[in-house]
Amino acid sequence: MKALRVHENGEPRDVLRLEETEVPRPGPGQVLVRVRAAAVNFPDALLCRGMYQTRPPLPFTPGVELCGEVAETGEGVTGIDPGARVLGGADLPAGAFADYALMSADGVFPAPASLGDDEAASLYIGYQTGWFALHRRAGLRAGETVLVHAAAGGVGSAAVQLAKAAGARVVGVVGGPDKAATATALGADVVVDRHTEDFVAVVKELTGGRGADVVFDPVGGESYARSTKCVAFEGRIVVIGFASGTIPTPGLNHALIKNYSILGLHWGLYRQRAPEAVAEAHDRLTELADQGLVKPLVSERLSAADLAEGVQRLAEGRTVGRLVFTP
Ligand SMILES: NC(=O)c1ccc[n+]([C@@H]2O[C@H](COP(=O)([O-])OP(=O)(O)OC[C@H]3O[C@@H](n4cnc5c(N)ncnc54)[C@H](OP(=O)(O)O)[C@@H]3O)[C@@H](O)[C@H]2O)c1
Repeated sequence: MKALRVHENGEPRDVLRLEETEVPRPGPGQVLVRVRAAAVNFPDALLCRGMYQTRPPLPFTPGVELCGEVAETGEGVTGIDPGARVLGGADLPAGAFADYALMSADGVFPAPASLGDDEAASLYIGYQTGWFALHRRAGLRAGETVLVHAAAGGVGSAAVQLAKAAGARVVGVVGGPDKAATATALGADVVVDRHTEDFVAVVKELTGGRGADVVFDPVGGESYARSTKCVAFEGRIVVIGFASGTIPTPGLNHALIKNYSILGLHWGLYRQRAPEAVAEAHDRLTELADQGLVKPLVSERLSAADLAEGVQRLAEGRTVGRLVFTP
């Protein structure tokens, strides 16, 4: 089979190589899937660079989420039938940037019939993260105002749709006019181009000085620091990631005097600690997809030849919506 593999860590465009390799064998508790579509995520770039939380043994194939067709199941796997159309996370080193990938059986979910393969491939990490951030961590209520950073990006675009589906008002922050148009198309009520506007002033004006009830922050750095200037009384800032490359060091005295909460979210940990909550979230996301309330915005379909450059552009903040690889 064909696979994009990383033999040494470095920039995605330099280290992702298209190769002919063996189809992996599913071990106990694993499922072999024929990849129909694999969405590109920021962690794919971090994996290439050797800077992700986990470092798979070299050589490995990145690609952390996918939609595929079950080809074979390993020992001890029950209730997952060959031929089933599924989505979920790939088990690295046999990731989804390949013709075939391995999945852990507990991370395999039915793909909603209402979504195409490339959309279904994008319904897992970003939407699950958005769901857990807004509902489980922040306890979002209808009518609240949500500030979403990188609102045209991977997790941000999911958060915009999920916050709207929950009856919230959404302010999306983006970098540049193309991303602004994307955030508007996703349903954001107000969009702020961070290159030309100050989101703090916009949020304050929109809320009559009150501020945002929930902040969804996959960027960190200045985005986090400025968010503390426009978070509401009893607001909740959910820390999702640090795409800016800068991990904030919050002043806890500020959280104390303004009565706001800083909430961490590592969605992957729920897969280990509360898999039933992940399955429950998948059911809710499937309902929302079937009702047309969420629909992953697939902006580019990439072939194997274009994939390395696509991962690089995502890492550099030069993409909108979801980039999806189709073998
Ligand atoms: N906590 C979790 O469980 C979890 C789960 C999934 C992902 N994440 C994290 O969430 C973050 C976003 O991932 P993603 O796949 O959704 O990526 P993405 O949003 O598609 O790309 C990152 C976006 O961040 C913004 N950005 C601002 N400053 C940037 C900079 N200096 N360099 C690059 N980007 C910059 C850019 O949007 P604008 O130009 O529009 O501002 C860029 O498009 C990553 O840190 C990822 O690791 C966390």
